[in-house]
Amino acid sequence: MAHPALLPVVLTCNTDLRFIDLIQVVGAEFLKHLSFSQEDGERLWLAIQEGIANAMRHGNKLVKDKPVKVTFTPKVDRFEIRIEDRGPGVDLEALPDPNLPENLLKPGGRGVFFMRQVMDEVHMERHPQGSTLVLVKARKVREPHP
Ligand SMILES: Nc1ncnc2c1ncn2[C@@H]1O[C@H](COP(=O)(O)OP(=O)(O)OP(=O)(O)O)[C@@H](O)[C@H]1O
Ligand SMILES: [Mg+2]
Repeated sequence: MAHPALLPVVLTCNTDLRFIDLIQVVGAEFLKHLSFSQEDGERLWLAIQEGIANAMRHGNKLVKDKPVKVTFTPKVDRFEIRIEDRGPGVDLEALPDPNLPENLLKPGGRGVFFMRQVMDEVHMERHPQGSTLVLVKARKVREPHP
């Protein structure tokens, strides 16, 4: 029997870094059911957490009544996470490379780099109302029986 299409799980919260732990409860449970290993699941979660922290800090500038919306979408061949904020977004391709010698001692600027290491795709969509960080992780598709 074919599996039914799984609907996205959507969480919306105020801008408050304390909500990240709450979203983790749902996100971590999700990852377990998508048959990522514990280690992959932890790395994926760290990347998602970086994305949510960026949405709250840089996108919504920590303004509490601005919402952050996180959408988890499991697909057959990939897991997609969308993180929406109300800020102008940023051109991810134009960010300084944290591994260049002149940037090595700078404290920040590693979140997006880390997300790129963990995910198969990282991009940002910018619209008039805000911006959406899109993270995609491929899933191993099981070989069909011969
Ligand atoms: N959602 C967002 N909206 C607007 N700007 C963003 C957003 N996410 C990232 N940025 C910009 O991209 C830069 C790089 O983000 P990155 O997460 O790599 O570093 P950081 O947040 O400055 O430091 P850290 O290493 O602590 O994460 C940020 O400093 C910010 O200017
Ligand atoms: Mg960051």
